Amino acid sequence: MKTIIEPFRIKAVEAIKITNREERVRLIEEVGLNPFLLRGEDVMIDLLTDSGTSAMSSEGWAALMRGDESYAGARSWYRFKEAVQEVFGFEHVIPTHQGRAAERILFGIMVKPGHFVPNNTHFDTTRANIEFRGGEAVDLPCPEAKQPDLIAPFKGNMDLEALRALIERVGVAQIPLIMVTITNNSGGGQPVSMANIRGISEIARAHGVPFYIDACRFAENAWFIKQREPGYADRSVPSIVAEIFSYADGCTMSAKKDAFANMGGFLCTRDAQLAEEERNLLILTEGFPTYGGLSGRDLDAIAVGLREILAEDYLNYRAASTAYVVNHLTALGVPMVLPAGGHAVYIDARRFLPHVAPMQYPGWSLAVELYKEGGVRGVEIGTVMFGLNPHTGEEAPGPWDLVRLAIPRRVYTQSHMDYVVEVVAAVWARRAEIRGLKIKSAPRFLRHFTATFEPLT
Ligand code: F0G
Repeated sequence: MKTIIEPFRIKAVEAIKITNREERVRLIEEVGLNPFLLRGEDVMIDLLTDSGTSAMSSEGWAALMRGDESYAGARSWYRFKEAVQEVFGFEHVIPTHQGRAAERILFGIMVKPGHFVPNNTHFDTTRANIEFRGGEAVDLPCPEAKQPDLIAPFKGNMDLEALRALIERVGVAQIPLIMVTITNNSGGGQPVSMANIRGISEIARAHGVPFYIDACRFAENAWFIKQREPGYADRSVPSIVAEIFSYADGCTMSAKKDAFANMGGFLCTRDAQLAEEERNLLILTEGFPTYGGLSGRDLDAIAVGLREILAEDYLNYRAASTAYVVNHLTALGVPMVLPAGGHAVYIDARRFLPHVAPMQYPGWSLAVELYKEGGVRGVEIGTVMFGLNPHTGEEAPGPWDLVRLAIPRRVYTQSHMDYVVEVVAAVWARRAEIRGLKIKSAPRFLRHFTATFEPLT
């Protein structure tokens, strides 16, 4: 059969409140045109994030009941640790309440003022945590990443020449670690090839610099390697995952993505001394090293999710359902980041609204219109998110202006996605009348979460 079905049945459902346009215009105006500030119940299809929004399986829910809430040394901890070690192959596992807590602990030890941390593209919390330490987060995406509609298999790759040039320019002593983000979320959800990961690792090892992977969507990345990279078609997903992490010295992970968990994360390393320092920091702000800010039941849910996510039927459906939306929108002429990535579809707002200048926030403007049109909530990845230098206060256009529609795992059906396509098509039809915005108020760090906006007159 050519139809790829959802490889699961639905056992529990959650009602969606249906709103009309007039209500939505009022609701979004009440929150200063910032979709982050809406009440979740006022959103019909919530594509703000795929983080912590997944549907757990019956096995995941059953695991919650097995949660052992002992403060120290709970059985849940050992099940969690064994799952992480089995999948990723790192000896030391530090549980955290989510990904950014792992980042904060890692950078808190490694990054000093004046340091540079290269990455294919830093996600916003990763960048902010480096900048907060006085370091500079350097994005080194491959040249193909800069052409949104170019079809290439691994547009998430890092530019290895640019990495070598950075090391040459700033000196290896100023680079405490090299990171790569799989898949490259801020760069359109595009995968990174095994060859590129191996290449980064070789450069890192040659210079004695630790190499870390931001592992949030590791299973989706492994699936794309299996589909697209010569030599991997017959390899199992777990063995591809094992190879990816064999090249790294450690990883940060948000279990809210490719572990189906609603909360959780971890930090891994092979370095015993570093792990001890990390555990000491963990105790200060997260919790004892055998729970790190999580309850026992969370640890158990993650242990189940980490193994479930590796199922090929699931990954095949996941990639197909994202491609379904991208293909339909592309057929309508909507400018998209191509090819389809794993967890989200990205609309190229600069080309969608060419009459809105980057400093008038076309991505934000489009996200607001999608909400008004159909109650669909997406997120701008562009000038609001990346355009402000928090140290100097200077503003400049971001590298691109995208609207990301992130697809929660196993949550929405194909008819929900048909509806999303219809909403985007309706906004596309009246795009000429859509105007830009200006910022009314905003903080310096991570301003997109709380900024308020008003329409340009
Ligand atoms: N790294 C990447 C690549 C991410 O996408 C995220 C979160 C994090 C780190 C931080 O993890 O949220 O558990 O602290 N991304 C979410 C998103 C928020 O919507 O893309 P966290």
